[in-house]
Parts: sequence; C-alpha cells; structure tokens
Amino acid sequence: LKKSTTATRILLILLSLFLFTQVFGLSSVAQVVLGKGNSGHYLSINMAFGIGATLGVYAAGGVSGAHLNAAITITQCVLGNISWKTLAAYIIGQFLGSFMAAATVFALYYDAIYDYTKGNLTVSGPTATAMIFSTYPAPNVSLQGFTATVMLILGVMVIHDEKNNAAIKGAQPVLTGLLVLGIGLGMGLNTGYAINPSRDLPPRVFTAIAGWGMAVFTGEHSWWWVPVAAPILGCLFGVFIYKLFIDFHNHPVLENEHEKEQAGMETSRL
Ligand SMILES: *[C@@H]1O[C@H](CO)[C@@H](O)[C@H](O)[C@H]1NC(C)=O
Repeated sequence: LKKSTTATRILLILLSLFLFTQVFGLSSVAQVVLGKGNSGHYLSINMAFGIGATLGVYAAGGVSGAHLNAAITITQCVLGNISWKTLAAYIIGQFLGSFMAAATVFALYYDAIYDYTKGNLTVSGPTATAMIFSTYPAPNVSLQGFTATVMLILGVMVIHDEKNNAAIKGAQPVLTGLLVLGIGLGMGLNTGYAINPSRDLPPRVFTAIAGWGMAVFTGEHSWWWVPVAAPILGCLFGVFIYKLFIDFHNHPVLENEHEKEQAGMETSRL
C-alpha cells in the first residue's frame, strides 16, 4: 500500500510539473507560428523551453530528481539508478503531463488556430500548424537530435556530478534551463531540437486525435519515431562518453562514497 501511494505521488507530481514545463514551450511555438512572426521568433521559443525546463526542474527536483525527459529516465534505468517500476511510473507521468500540455495549448489557441488555418489542420503546406506540438523533419535533423541529446546529457552530468564540480543545488535548475537554451541556439535549425521523447510523442498523439489526423504519423516518411529514438541513443552515447572521458578518471575519497551511499538510500525511500 505504501509503495502504491509513493508511485501515485510521483505520478501526480510529474503530471502537474511536466504540464507546467511543457506549456511554456508549446505555447511559445504557437505564438510564433500563429502570430506570423509578429509576436516572437525562433529565439523566443528557445528561451521559453529554457524557462520551462528551469521551473520544471525546480518544482520536481526535490521529489523525483526532476525526471522530465524519457531519454534521461531510460538512461538512468540502464545505469541501474532507478528500477523498472520507477521507470514506468515516471514515463507514464511524463507522457500524461505532456499530452495534457498539448491539450491545454490547443485550448488556449483554439480560436487563433482556426483563424489561421480556416479549419484546415495540416502537417505541411502554407498554413501548417502540426509543428506547434511536435517536431517535423528538415535535412539532417535526426543527426541534430542525436548530437543535441549527447550535449544535453553531458551538460546535465556536468551540472549534477557530485564527484566532480557540481553546481550548488539551488542553481542546478537555472543551469539546466540555460543548457536547454544553449542547445536551441546552436542545434535547433528549422524544426527545433528533438532532445526529449516525452516532449515530442504525446503531443503528436494529441494532434492525431484533435484534428490533424494520422498524417502526423504517416507524413514525412513516417518520421515520427526519429525524435523518440534519436534522443535515447544520444543520451546513452553521451553517458558512455562522460564515463569514459571524465567520470572514470575521477577517484572519489571514501567520505564521498559514503555520502553517495546515503544519498542513494534516501532516494530509494521516496
Ligand atoms: C488543406 O491544406 C492542404 C495543404 O496545404 C491542401 O492540400 C488541402 O487541399 C487543404 N484542404 C482544404 C479543404 O482546403
């Protein structure tokens, strides 16, 4: 009983917080697309995703370790830091939260979307709007997603690595937001940066249901799985790189090891 209560709590917290994070990001894309460039541009989208990430990590950090990205959560599970059960709970929370965020932004911009598209909700064409919710391909975007996620996980590890030179706890969310902003500034050409399956897939499902139809999956040579797979592969590769080039060369003193063990016990009690 106690376990299921914990799982429910994690689920609810992730749900509300991912919703919070994702609403910032998606609504910023909506404002740029529907405002026809008069109320924002590419930079504002990058900033909004950075602000959303910062707030989400602040809000979820204390309880769940701020799992807002399925690629990172899967990597943590592969590394043995979280159990399969926790993995499932986190991903369910992320996906539900992300789906609800898409629905929220759709409701927020319902009139504007209909005004802009005259009711023709499309993936491509002059008044395409599906990219408000999910990423769509441009040349070399899959490699972009992979590389961007390698940089994401390297950045996350640098910020959080207690064995190395971790940022102080209260500053970590700000730095994570800046990291997301930095990735958008350099690795998000044309379609945005696919660095998070939880950010991309649930809104795509939402658009399929809400009127864009199966074209969101079948369009662009069924490209939908790339923003799911590329971040996971990028994340695993990034962790490998980090372990190989930084972590393995850091030999902690015994005291740190003891502290780590205690931290691990605290986490497992949640
Ligand atoms: C909707 O937009 C698409 C893409 O631009 C176009 O091919 C299609 O004919 C449009 N449908 C209607 C009903 O206007």
